[in-house]
Amino acid sequence: MLIHKIEELRKQIKIWKKQGLTVGLVPTMGALHNGHLSLIKKSVEKCDKTVVSVFVNPIQFGPNEDLDKYPRTLDADRKLCEDAGVDIVFAPSPKEMYGEGHILSNDFLTYVVPPFFYVDKLCGKSRVGHFDGVCTVVNKLFNIVQPDFAFFGEKDRQQLIIIKKMIKDLNIPVEIIPCPIVREESGLALSSRNKYLTENGKIEALALNRILFNIKTCYNKGIKDVSALTETAYSFLNENHALEYLEFRDKDTLEEKKTADNNTIVFIAVKVENVRLIDNIEL
Ligand code: PAF
Repeated sequence: MLIHKIEELRKQIKIWKKQGLTVGLVPTMGALHNGHLSLIKKSVEKCDKTVVSVFVNPIQFGPNEDLDKYPRTLDADRKLCEDAGVDIVFAPSPKEMYGEGHILSNDFLTYVVPPFFYVDKLCGKSRVGHFDGVCTVVNKLFNIVQPDFAFFGEKDRQQLIIIKKMIKDLNIPVEIIPCPIVREESGLALSSRNKYLTENGKIEALALNRILFNIKTCYNKGIKDVSALTETAYSFLNENHALEYLEFRDKDTLEEKKTADNNTIVFIAVKVENVRLIDNIEL
């Protein structure tokens, strides 16, 4: 069932709650691929009812980002969801979510702002305000859907860590289920933004996962020093890569690591053909 209106969705949720059914939410911005489908599959297995939200959230895009060209494929998304056993696809308009006017103005919207320590690094450094937009919309979706479980991909690892922190700090009654990164056979992490890459760009993009898997191999062989592990990355990069960051951080607190251990995530962001790609691996 496709629903565009908050009130209509709420009515349905109320009925399910009365029946004692568990509800899973898979928040997405659409352009669904196998990565999203793995989250959806988990929700359908675990919960009595599954809601997939499809909403390209304007307030998490910066002024020079790809809001306008972000792929919008609602018909295909809906079909995929139906085939996967999803009960409701919730696809509100920006107006339905944020009201008339003021959509992009901080002055006219109550925001959920995660702690500075979590957002002044990694993707937050180049995407100022991005995680405020994410936390705000995710909070709204939690309030609208009132899910028992919500499913997030580990591909957006900083987002996942920040959302977990928000749930804990604000006592939001939902259990977050993290889902592993889904990769193409080549190793490339699935992302809706891969659509922007040419065939050659997709080959150049393999540097990200090669760097990460090579670091993991070196770590498993006993190299723990982060500078030494970082050094191993450079042989995978050429003039077609603009490395934005390669960082080793704690998997819960995002604190920087000088020595890698089993609580370490290696985060990488590289621009290929001007498309910003991210990936990460747990050591
Ligand atoms: O990960 C995403 O696709 C988005 O950031 C999310 C969680 C759906 C919020 O808009």
